[in-house]
Order: sequence, then structure tokens, then C-alpha cells
Amino acid sequence: MSIRSEYTDSLNFYGKETPHSLIEKFGSPLYVYNENVLRERCKDLVSLCKTDGLHINYSAKANANPHLLKIIKDEGCLVDAMSPGELFLDMKVGYKPQEILYVCNNVSQEEMKNALEKGVLISVDSLLQVEQLCQLNPGGKIMVRFNPGIGAGHSAKVVTGGKETKFGVDPEKLPELLQILDKYNVTLAGINHHIGSLFMEGESYIAAAEILLDLALTLPHFDDLEIIDFGGGFGIPYHKYEKQERFDLQAFSQLLNETLSSWAKEYHYKGKFYLEPGRYIAAECGLILGTVYNTKTNGIKPYVGTDLGFNTLARPMLYDSFHDVEIYRKNFDGQKIEEKEQTIVGNICESGDIIAKNRVLPVIKENDIIAMLDAGAYGFSMSSNYTQRLKPAEVLIQKDGSAKLIRRRDTFDDIFATIPE
Ligand code: LLP
Repeated sequence: MSIRSEYTDSLNFYGKETPHSLIEKFGSPLYVYNENVLRERCKDLVSLCKTDGLHINYSAKANANPHLLKIIKDEGCLVDAMSPGELFLDMKVGYKPQEILYVCNNVSQEEMKNALEKGVLISVDSLLQVEQLCQLNPGGKIMVRFNPGIGAGHSAKVVTGGKETKFGVDPEKLPELLQILDKYNVTLAGINHHIGSLFMEGESYIAAAEILLDLALTLPHFDDLEIIDFGGGFGIPYHKYEKQERFDLQAFSQLLNETLSSWAKEYHYKGKFYLEPGRYIAAECGLILGTVYNTKTNGIKPYVGTDLGFNTLARPMLYDSFHDVEIYRKNFDGQKIEEKEQTIVGNICESGDIIAKNRVLPVIKENDIIAMLDAGAYGFSMSSNYTQRLKPAEVLIQKDGSAKLIRRRDTFDDIFATIPE
């Protein structure tokens, strides 16, 4: 029995394990993923693809653990990469070059060459990078990221469309872009954009998609287009205990499919359409468990001290993001526990190292285990070795409820491995 666990209880998230058994076996802090939830989120999206040629292109930056990538692949999603490392992992789990899209930003020609040699279509997002890629691959194919002028997202730091961002080619520069492509006899095989990350309604997404579709129609070689990629950004309800509503996929799906199929029919488009979600697929299947080592009151403010520093989960510190909290206590007798406002902090020497601020929760005690929910996306993938702490291990609760280690915890040797004598 636990103090606050209705959400994970309702999903049987821990399968045959418990938070305590997992920490005993694999140590603390610990990322835990649930295979059933991951598969369900993939199915939500794959099943909305009712238009011919519409695909889900998972954005691997959210979480690139190969064991999770394999499941995502198995559920029928394609994949993107935005770095040589992600490309390496995508290929390692068996994605074929034509199933991968390299969507990059400000990269070296070395990096472009690496993706070209692997036979992957590359999206670049400035005229200069277009020219550089054309020089490397005359007569070849290219994809270009445009900036639709519309942005959306949970923080200015992740809004990527609009004039105030570094992303994309301004559609007004199309004539210059076409001149460069002509000069090198390069085919514009794809166009894409990504307006930003985490919106809970699809209006801006569809409005931006319409802008990209209009732009496609102005291309002199429209028939060369193989892919139109509208990016990701679909939000998930982080406020689980307030029963926050989910993104209305049904309504979105209807609008999207109507828009895309009527457009494709009208203009005889034979290519593919991509949606490129990261968070929607990976966030809810993962959480991070940590241990409470300390409690204290400074002034009038109660603090709960844990091993969940921003080296393990950076989102609250970086974006003031909210992750819901669960609390588990060994031998909890089920008695009602008083609630009060508490601030949960990590073990890093910065006062911004706060993982949950001013939360009204049952009073947390030393040795409790807590979970930060919905940490599967941009959790481990943004973790670091700051203050030379070891990155957490990752465990997958498989379909049969058993736990499988899918990444061991760092060791000191790992940290030292890159240091020459
Ligand atoms: N496609 C492109 C080109 C992207 O840059 C991104 C995310 C995605 C797709 C997937 O977006 P999603 O569906 O996950 O929203 N670290 C931030 C999120 C940064 C997103 C960066 N780009 C966070 O933790 O909220």
C-alpha cells in the first residue's frame, strides 16, 4: 500500500515489481518504463493515420534508448535523427535508411557526409546549409525545413516557428533556394517544419500545416515531392492528479485527415505525409524514481531532499515544467497523512535544483521513495553527469510484468574513460 499511487496503480505500471523492489535491485535514482503504455501511445498515433501515405515519424531526441526504439519500430513508426548519435542508434535497431529522416540544424559538412553515406534524406534549414549539402551531393535529393511563421509550445525555449527563432528557411527566400538547387541539379524531395513542443489543441498545428501545403503548391517541381513533414509537438497531460484532459486526438485526427486527403486528391499528390511526435510517444511510459534522504524547514519553507537533482531530470529547472509526484512508503499502514505544501529538491549545489515546487502533498518522510511521472520524454535524454554524478539506470517493465535492465547505471570508469593519461 502506498501513500500516493493511484495513477500508477490504475495502470499496473510496475507489473510484478514495486518501487521498493526496483530500487533494491537496480539502485536509486532509476528511470522506469512500461512497455504496455509505450505501445499504447504508439497505437494512438499510428491509428490516426487514415490518409494514404500518412506516417508517424518518431522524434528520437525525446528518448533514444534502443530497447524503446525497437518497440516503437515494432509498432510501425518511422524515425528521425538530429545527430550522428541518434542516426547510429536508429540504424543499430534496424531502421533502414529510407525509414530515417535526418532533421538537423547548424551542422558540419562532415556530419552531412555521414548521413549521405548512409543513404538518409537530410533536411537542412538555411540557404547556406542547402548550398553546402548540394556541393556534397550534386544531382542528389534534399529536404528543406521552412519556417511557417507560426509557433506554439509550453515555453519560449521550445517554440520553433516564427520570426524570433533560429529555425527554418523563410518561405520568401524560395526563389533563391530554387536557384541553388538548379545550379547543382538537386531535387527538392521533401519539405518540413516543426512549430514547437507541447500544445494541447491542434489548431495552430493544422494552420501551420496548411501553410506548408500552400507552399508545396508553389514549387515548380511539385511532382518531385516525396515527403511533407509537419513536425511534432503534441502535448500530454502532465497534471495527472488534477485529471487534466488529454489532447483530443479524435478531433485532431478528423480535421487532419480531411485536410490531407482532400488536398492530396485535389492536387494529385502521391508522396508521403509525416507527423513527427517525440513527447506524445515517450513521455507517459516513463517515470523516475528517487529516494528521500532529508527533510527540513528553512524559515517557513519545508524542503524534501532527494537524489533527483536536475542532472537526472532537467525539465523543471530548465522550463519550470510540472511533473506530478507519487509517494511510496515501506510498511505504510494506510493511515491518513496530513497534507502540507512542500518543495522537493535534488542534491546539486544550486538553489534552482528544484524538482517540484510548493506542492501540497502528504507529508513526505526520510526513506520514502518518490516518482516524478511522465519523465519518459526529455528525461534521460537530457540528463547529465553534472557534479560527476552517475547517470541513472533504465529499467523496462515488460508486457509480462517482469523488469529488464535496458541501461546500466554509469560507473566511475565510464566517467574516466574519456580522459587520457
Ligand atoms: N521534430 C523536430 C524537428 C523537433 O525539433 C522536435 C522537438 C520534434 C519533432 C518533436 O517534438 P515533440 O513532439 O517531442 O514536442 N526538451 C523540451 C522539448 C524540446 C523539443 C525539441 N524539438 C522539453 O523537455 O519540453
